[in-house]
Amino acid sequence: MAAEMALVKPISKFSTIATTTKPRFSYPKATCTSLSTRFCTIKMSATSEQAAAATAQKPSKKSNKTAIKETLLTPRFYTTDFDEMETLFNTEINKKLNQAEFEALLQEFKTDYNQTHFVRNKEFKEAADKMQGPLRQIFVEFLERSCTAEFSGFLLYKELGRRLKKTNPVVAEIFSLMSRDEARHAGFLNKGLSDFNYALDLGFLTKARKYTFFKPKFIFYATYLSEKIGYWRYITIYRHLKANPEFQCYPIFKYFENWCQDENRHGDFFSALMKAQPQFLNDWKAKLWARFFCLSVYVTMYLNDCQRTAFYEGIGLDTKEFDMHVIIEVSLWLSLLVCFLQKFMKISVLRINCQYVELDSTLCTSQVSQQSSL
Ligand SMILES: [Fe+2]
Ligand SMILES: [Fe+2]
Repeated sequence: MAAEMALVKPISKFSTIATTTKPRFSYPKATCTSLSTRFCTIKMSATSEQAAAATAQKPSKKSNKTAIKETLLTPRFYTTDFDEMETLFNTEINKKLNQAEFEALLQEFKTDYNQTHFVRNKEFKEAADKMQGPLRQIFVEFLERSCTAEFSGFLLYKELGRRLKKTNPVVAEIFSLMSRDEARHAGFLNKGLSDFNYALDLGFLTKARKYTFFKPKFIFYATYLSEKIGYWRYITIYRHLKANPEFQCYPIFKYFENWCQDENRHGDFFSALMKAQPQFLNDWKAKLWARFFCLSVYVTMYLNDCQRTAFYEGIGLDTKEFDMHVIIEVSLWLSLLVCFLQKFMKISVLRINCQYVELDSTLCTSQVSQQSSL
């Protein structure tokens, strides 16, 4: 996963490491007195605010581990009903599963287009060392949020790959390969943090974070949206910085073009999964839930980004324009999915009350008609 959304994907609020009375980008002096000279391992507390405070009062002697409390927009890790998942992907029970399509997707994932893509160079450390003041702290927050988000996807996909192995080996292997991608993304971001003398304690995160339960239906909605939003966020930043290289202050963005293709493939896989589960899309409750998820994810993304306009302005983006662009593009993708389902499965789902989508629905309906008549 890639998108930075509290509802769907975990993001920690870095600015609240110590106390809400601290300045937005301050760090606890007791544990991390100099950003440029000391190395901090960031622990994210899964317990209460008091526990986080207690941890902050008793820093580990072995390392400068810093507790981060959770807030309303704090990221979460997700778990689901794996027994229900096994039933959904049982080819004996669900005859709508298009195994040929999943086989084709599996070959795509096995190709592993980005196997050699995530190779660092000396530019990273040099760029990080040049960054000072608020921009440096903003970047640390960005890397930490993104790393946690990617790691959340890794954990969920890895478990799904493990649990579906017997029921549907093809789908299980795709999940495992997607977890490979997400682990690669999280690791790359964590190495970025090391340029700033930080590192996320991912082992601690795995054990200590709270896991939020979502039924499979909601996991499908959330992860599909998350992957597609992640794709559009990454590619938008990449294209913007390519056109405006004066804002290219850290080389990680140069990797976004290929990186976002991983997220796009993940989204396409969830699109195929949803096509195989029309019962999650074709009644009035499903329509309402789908709308709710769209709205929640968009609002959460917007609120998160508005809290961090300094980051987007730092790379030359207008936060609101950036978010609107992402929302519109993702909505167009959704409308294409809707068109497909309406055309080929005779169901009407996921319509969003957005003039852009309405316009595009007309367009893509005619495109689907043309394609189907060929
Ligand atoms: Fe990812
Ligand atoms: Fe992903």
